[in-house]
Amino acid sequence: MSHHDERTFVMIKPDGVQRGLIGEIVSRFEDRGLKLVGGKFIRMDEALAHEHYGEHEGKPFFDGLVEFITSGPVFAMVWEGADATRQVRAMVGETDPADSAPGTIRGDFGLDLGHNVIHASDHEDEGANDREIDLFFDEDEFVDYDLDAAAWVYEDETH
Ligand code: RTP
Ligand code: MG
Repeated sequence: MSHHDERTFVMIKPDGVQRGLIGEIVSRFEDRGLKLVGGKFIRMDEALAHEHYGEHEGKPFFDGLVEFITSGPVFAMVWEGADATRQVRAMVGETDPADSAPGTIRGDFGLDLGHNVIHASDHEDEGANDREIDLFFDEDEFVDYDLDAAAWVYEDETH
């Protein structure tokens, strides 16, 4: 089952939390057949925000981004499944909700670049997933279990 266990980091941003979208967004990943292996509801502090968005330090939108992401609680998760990083990014949509197709999370729930509801690790940035998972989670915070539905999601998974 090794190719079904790719892990990806996802986080519902303060706007998504305040708009009551946690359940809706979690449902989408569940419905897709992905397996939830970790989750935590936290308020990011400035140090964590700087580290998480370090690649954007120095850009004109950086200070506003840090202020926004620390402005309220976020719901951080790790989801597991085949090709999970790329598939989740496709479900999230483009960075700007205005460019995101209907049916994607940003395309269905956002209109503004600065309030785009959700973060997901970039599949085009090789180390992003591991780095972000390590930043938010300790190894002992992941729950090890078999997801029964996997037998129906994947053709080569045994019942
Ligand atoms: P994220 O990291 O939050 O999942 O978003 P992303 O990969 O789609 O986009 P990224 O390029 O990493 O940008 C991080 C966040 O910064 C804000 N942003 N503002 N004003 C601007 O030009 C600008 N560009 C990016 C967005 O809120 C984006 O999610
Ligand atoms: Mg990004």
